[in-house]
Amino acid sequence: MYFVAFLLALPGIVIAQNLVLIGGNLKDDNAGIWTMMVEKAGGPGIANIGVVLASPNNDAEGAKAVDNFVRIYGAKAASIISLGKADSSSQEVADRVRNYTGIFLVDDSEKSNLVKILRPSGVDSLVLKAIKSVMSNGGMVAGNSAIMGNSVVIHSGDSMNALVEGTKYEESFSGKRIPLAYCKSGGLGFLNNYVLDSHFSDKGREMRLIRTLLDSRDLPGIGTSKGLGVDENTALVISNPLSKPVGKVITAEVSLSGVFFVDVSTVPAESSSKATYEKIPFSFFTVNDTIDLTSGEVTYASWKIPIAGEEWFEDAIPSSDIFSAETPSEWRQTNRRLIDCKEVNVTCTSLSSVRPRFQVFFDRLEAVGFGADIPNDPKKTYVASYRNMLATIKPLEA
Ligand SMILES: *[C@@H]1O[C@H](CO)[C@@H](O)[C@H](O)[C@H]1NC(C)=O
Ligand SMILES: *[C@@H]1O[C@H](CO)[C@@H](O)[C@H](O)[C@H]1NC(C)=O
Ligand SMILES: *[C@@H]1O[C@H](CO)[C@@H](O)[C@H](O)[C@H]1NC(C)=O
Repeated sequence: MYFVAFLLALPGIVIAQNLVLIGGNLKDDNAGIWTMMVEKAGGPGIANIGVVLASPNNDAEGAKAVDNFVRIYGAKAASIISLGKADSSSQEVADRVRNYTGIFLVDDSEKSNLVKILRPSGVDSLVLKAIKSVMSNGGMVAGNSAIMGNSVVIHSGDSMNALVEGTKYEESFSGKRIPLAYCKSGGLGFLNNYVLDSHFSDKGREMRLIRTLLDSRDLPGIGTSKGLGVDENTALVISNPLSKPVGKVITAEVSLSGVFFVDVSTVPAESSSKATYEKIPFSFFTVNDTIDLTSGEVTYASWKIPIAGEEWFEDAIPSSDIFSAETPSEWRQTNRRLIDCKEVNVTCTSLSSVRPRFQVFFDRLEAVGFGADIPNDPKKTYVASYRNMLATIKPLEA
């Protein structure tokens, strides 16, 4: 309360608003992300964080978050706000929520209870309005990236399902079938103009995001051609999310993880039904890169240098399971190698045991890469970021 009141008392000060999009599976020892949340909620000794739960199943996780905030990462206070359906329209709960300098929504992305409870029938509840006022008054709101945008929220489906669905292959697909499903009334609305996803590289969700964008980009009001996917134990910390959003990638101390960015505005609509997509441009940003989410301008972490002409490896390594949800991060791994090798393209395939089969051709001719060894890492782990890699996807005829 302190912190917000202090800022409000000074006329003319621009109040920074802060949104933290978490990619799921946030570890207790991820000091970068927990410290950042405390800092953006006012700092150590000031931050007073409300930990919002929408299901009693998450009690243990909520208690753990309170403990992390206060005991380990220096917040002044943190407490649980447990929400049932009735509570989200309660004035008393909303008043309580307004008193926090930060709100942490406990991850329930697989069930999206938080969206159902906080935004019943697609309308902001009193409590959601209060959470938004915490943010607009200069506080911090954090939660699983998948539910935080105003655009559609993806509920289920993996990349193979998303690719095959609604095409001539629909009947014959031999894999396990969990259909692509997304909620057309949108998410909690802390960021506009992006479809957001979490557990991203880890669960090979690239194609499911691309397909969702192509299917939903023309929806009135919330349609968009742009998407962001945040990896596990990783966050995109966004300043001024509703006016001039600029995101910074935060990861665990030594990590190859990051944030995937795609814009399908150049991909024709008929691509989906033919399951043939030409030159989808995508980017991947790693630790401490910043992205202006309005202009698309990127500032790489200062210690990263251009890769062009300095590629380390001779050859690219093709993946034979590029959409894998099982072996994690095939897409991320393949492209990290491609941007840092002397070859300029690589042809991958989907798993041979699942029909139909697809070919994915990656081309780095138009891509710009930046990378370096992570500073102060004794193992000298190399991280690479890039923009404008191109993916061309088509069925492999047997
Ligand atoms: C909000 O905080 C103030 C100051 O700590 C306190 O007096 C007030 O009772 C709180 N309001 C609610 C609804 O908790
Ligand atoms: C990223 O930035 C933070 C804050 O400026 C800094 O503490 C951290 O060391 C940086 N990490 C890397 C890998 O550069
Ligand atoms: C892939 O790269 C090779 C050179 O490494 C080039 O000869 C070939 O034409 C490229 N393929 C396509 C389809 O661009």
